[in-house]
Amino acid sequence: MDVYTDSRTLVPLGDDAGVYEYGGVIYVYTVDFITPVLNDPYLWGAISAVNSLSDVYAMGGIPLNALAVVGFNSCSMEIEVLRQAMKGALDKLREAKTVLLGGHTLEDKEPKLGFAVTGVCPDGIYITQEGAKPGHCIVLTKPIGTGVAIKALKEGLLKESDITEAVENMLKLNKEASEIMKASKASACTDVSGFGLLGHLMNICRSSKVGASLIFENIPFYEFSADLVRKGIYPRAALSNLNFLKEFIETDLEDWQLLLLTDPVTSGGLLFTVDKTRLQETLTKKFSINCYIIGYISEESGIKVFRK
Ligand code: CO
Ligand code: CO
Ligand code: CO
Repeated sequence: MDVYTDSRTLVPLGDDAGVYEYGGVIYVYTVDFITPVLNDPYLWGAISAVNSLSDVYAMGGIPLNALAVVGFNSCSMEIEVLRQAMKGALDKLREAKTVLLGGHTLEDKEPKLGFAVTGVCPDGIYITQEGAKPGHCIVLTKPIGTGVAIKALKEGLLKESDITEAVENMLKLNKEASEIMKASKASACTDVSGFGLLGHLMNICRSSKVGASLIFENIPFYEFSADLVRKGIYPRAALSNLNFLKEFIETDLEDWQLLLLTDPVTSGGLLFTVDKTRLQETLTKKFSINCYIIGYISEESGIKVFRK
């Protein structure tokens, strides 16, 4: 691909967001949209906004403003559904102090909602997927297993009230996670989404030319998601993610455990690498989110994931 670029482009294509300097200010740009994930349109909208803001937080930026991207099926959808979804999204943009500047709506068989978000890094520091250092610990800030849960919900195997823990986490902005990540001077960061935990960790490893070692026991996941995967219920993407990664993984885990680790995530947490002592220093202050240390960065390439 022959892409026009210039010296103000600070991060090559392929990271969570674009980073661009103009007039001494470092801007962060990203766009993301999702199809309905829950039966409640208000929650879908709210999760969509949290999901769209996440890539700015993953770069260590602060979101400033957003443009809505809306796909609407006027034959099968009540306008009230869209109104509720926008209400959910706008509540989250308000929480993130992000201004809605405009957007675009188009007719679409499958409804979609998301945002193009612009942020800034006022301190001049942005964190990419490149830079993970051997010896640094790997931190995850939300449990995994949302892809499985959403699939089960769509197929009527679970009710929204069965997965409140997952819904609450999907509704959580990665703002505080980003503050912890920056305050502890993380060496690399991304957010967990469609490629699953292992896929996004692999992206960090490849960009940073390192490997990783994970301990399954320390990885947080939803029990209902684990139960479903054990029964053979998981999204097709979990399997394709796993097939893609398999040759780079050394493991003593069973297949269902690996499928949980490659389950596509909606509105997932941040995944960052950091010096453990600096993280612990940062965490002596009060935060409302969890930082799970799930493993370590190693020199040799590939991902090792063992039970203990
Ligand atoms: Co991302
Ligand atoms: Co994204
Ligand atoms: Co990043």
